This record gives sequence, structure tokens and C-alpha cells, in this order.
Amino acid sequence: MFDTVIHSGTLVTASDVFRGDIGIKDGRIAAIAETISGGDRRIDAGGRLVMPGGIEAHAHIAQESSSGVMTADDYYTGSVSAAFGGNSSFIPFAGQHRGQSVDDVLATYDERSRRSVIDYSYHLIISDPTEAVLNDELPRAFKRGITSFKVFMTYDLMNLGDGGMLDILTVAKAHGAITMVHAENNEMVKWMNRRLAAKGLTAPRYHAISRPELAEEEAINRAISLAKLVDAPLFIVHVSTAGGAALVQRAKLDGVKLFAETCPQYLALTRDDLDRPGMEGAKFMCSPPLRDRETQQALWRHVQSGTFESVSSDHAPYRYDASGKFTAGPDAPYPKIANGMPGIAARLPYLFSEGVVAGRISLKQFVALSATNAAQTFGMTAKGSLAPGMDADIAIWNPDVTRKVTLADQHDNMDFTPFEGMELTGVPEIVLNRGNIIVEHGTLRAAEGQGRFVPRATVDLTGKPGYLAKELDPAHNFGTRIAP
Ligand code: URP
Ligand code: ZN
Ligand code: ZN
Repeated sequence: MFDTVIHSGTLVTASDVFRGDIGIKDGRIAAIAETISGGDRRIDAGGRLVMPGGIEAHAHIAQESSSGVMTADDYYTGSVSAAFGGNSSFIPFAGQHRGQSVDDVLATYDERSRRSVIDYSYHLIISDPTEAVLNDELPRAFKRGITSFKVFMTYDLMNLGDGGMLDILTVAKAHGAITMVHAENNEMVKWMNRRLAAKGLTAPRYHAISRPELAEEEAINRAISLAKLVDAPLFIVHVSTAGGAALVQRAKLDGVKLFAETCPQYLALTRDDLDRPGMEGAKFMCSPPLRDRETQQALWRHVQSGTFESVSSDHAPYRYDASGKFTAGPDAPYPKIANGMPGIAARLPYLFSEGVVAGRISLKQFVALSATNAAQTFGMTAKGSLAPGMDADIAIWNPDVTRKVTLADQHDNMDFTPFEGMELTGVPEIVLNRGNIIVEHGTLRAAEGQGRFVPRATVDLTGKPGYLAKELDPAHNFGTRIAP
């Protein structure tokens, strides 16, 4: 009756940990019971944890940066790396650059994503919200199940300004979609850049100085205010500061339709990594930048106490060579070095080891942070949990193995990993996507292109009552209807 039965394991969901077997039929979980016999294939999960396959909700794959640098990973290498890291699906970005039509952008990414070995969708980056984009192209994107957008408050070529952001928030809200935001104050960063340049301070370590914690805090505060004005859902990506996390926590208490993530690099690394000899610090350049030990501790407390829905990788793979970090030359000043670091394979092993094994979070929190919350926030309704009817997206973890992170274990197209040498306990040994084994004990079993596009549902706003600004409430604004 079953194609595959996973037996004798400890099943973990965001709400329960229990002994049980899983029966898989036609790519879906068909049964969960104390014992299930039969099955064309039986996978012994004795001594193992059986969890929902990870959903990587923040990755840059086959994407050109605003200055035209292509990521080292395409949808094949990026998805393979994700699979080795315990993920069954991911949501990379499809990036609109100024002057491009969203329809064309999506057609381009549809072509690129054909190679994926795991299921996927896209968050659509909007940098040029023309009337055609707002009125026609975004509604067309919603119709095909692309229900999240990312906007930038920084970078001259991406930053929308507050008005543009309000337009996107409003259109997204009208369709039940969610707006994601990279929150850093552009003018503060540019001012810092000018000051540092005037003193000739251009080494990679000054990247961290040029993007102050206050730039993130100010922008997060502003982004939340903009979302409150139109009562729209907002997701703050890669929160890197204690102050920013506290603003998120406070706004959630106030009922704002707010979601947020942080990333392993902000929990594991510091700005001292940018101060490595020579240009080595370029490997650790990402935006927002790495902070300090005190901030790491504060961010961990926010992970523990529920400020963040997800811990995502922000995998932005630029190699340590002229194709990536050094397109502007081997000694380029930091503003001309590509921002971003790889981490799609390291995300879950890091979170498991430093979170669960280190006693900071429970197994159930691990599942919530790695898969369940992303599924709910981003509308992957058949993914992110273990229950009859759900896609059989499953990762079987050995919680007892300890190994050192190596570049080879990342299985990506990079020439470094910022997590090199870190000793982590817990390994995803077998990973399934829709019932197909894609990784088995260190061997890739998936064929190029077997991943499928996942049309997504609208954002789940359960428990988020929202906020109605008086000036947008017809009961208080002389009956004026300003935004939906
Ligand atoms: O430094 C990073 N994270 N690069 C990727 C682009 C972005 O800012 O999201
Ligand atoms: Zn970003
Ligand atoms: Zn990013």
C-alpha cells in the first residue's frame, strides 16, 4: 500500500515529539501510526530524528546583484547544497532591476529554476514599482502563487523610498501577500562611506563600521511605521541587531502583522572576522554586517523567545575571486566588494548544534524555525510539518554525530565557507522531497530538474490582529477611503 515506510524513528513537529512510523504514497504522507508494516521500501530511522525537511526562505540563487555580479550558485548547485543541508524546498529571490518588467524577470527565473533538485518558489524583489508593475504585473504574479515581495531601504539602485514602499505594502496587502524588507538607512550608510573614504579607510573591516547598528534600527522602526500606516503584513529579513529585534518584539506585542528572521552568521560570527589578514575579511562581508558577541547573545535570546519566525541562511554566494568578491580588483575598497556569504548547507546543522544540542532551543523550536513557520508565513501549505496529506518532505537526522564543517561538505559552487572548521553535532543523513530520497548518507540521489515550482497561498495572519491608523479609518477621517 505504501511506496516508502520510515520506521522506528522519533518524529518531531513544531508541536510534538513522539515515536512513530510514516507511510508515504504518491509523494505524500499517507499515514502516521505507532507501527506501519509493509512498504515497497523501508527506511530504518532507529535512533534518528524524523523531521519536516527544512524550508530555506532566504537565498540568492542565480541572481545578479544590483551591480551585475552573478551568484556562484545556480538552481542546480544551490539546490543540491540546500538538500545536503537538510532542506526539501527553498524560496530564492527573483530580482527585478530598474527598467525590467516583472513578467520578463519571472520568465528568466522560470528558465533558471528548471534545474532545481528540490521544490521551490520565488520571492519577487521589486526595485522599480511602475504603474504597470503595481497594477498589472504584480497581480499576475499573485495569480501564479508568488505571494511575497522583497523591497530594499538601502542600496542606491534598489532602494524604493518610503512612498514606493507604501505602494508595495498596499498592493501586497490587497492580494493577501507579504512584503519583505531589507532594512538599513541608506543615507546613514552613504554618509559613513564618505567619511571613511576621506580618511582612506577602505579595508574590508570598515564595511562593518560603515553600516551602523543604528542604521538598521532606524530603518526597522520606519518599516514598521510604514506597515502600520496601511496595516499591511511585513517580514523583516536578516535582523542583525539587538535594538532591531527589540523593535520587532515590541511591535508584535502591539498586534502589528509582523514577521522576522535572523541568520546563523549573526549568531556565530562577529565583525572581528572582517579583520582577518589581507583581504580575507571580504569573505565575511554581508549586509547588514556582522556585529559583536554581545549582539549574538541578545539575538539568541530573541530566537529562544519567539521574536523570529525563522533562522534563514541569506545564502549569497560570491566566490573569493574575480568572479565574485573581487570583480573590481583584488584590492578593491569595501564598497566595491560584493556583499553576501554562503550558508545554505550550514544553516540547519548550525541551528541544530548550537541551538538544540547546546540546550538553547527545543527540538520543536528547531522545527518551527527551520520549516513550519516559513511554510505558514509564505503559504507553502502542504509543507513544513508531518501530517497525513502533507508532502513527504522529510529530513532524517542523526543527532549524535559530530563533525567539522568543511567546504566539501557544503556541496555548493563556492571556494570558501565562513563556517569552516566549526565543530557541529547533528547531521541530516537522509532527505526526501515529495517522497523521493534526494540525499542519502552523503550521496546525492536527486536528478537535475526534479524539483517543482510550488504555487503559494496567501500569508497566514492568525494571531496578528493588526493596527488601524486613525487617519486611515473612515470612522475618524471624515469617511475617506484611502487604502484598502
Ligand atoms: O549581503 C547580503 N545579504 N547580500 C545579499 C543581498 C542582500 O542584501 O539581501
Ligand atoms: Zn538583504
Ligand atoms: Zn539576502
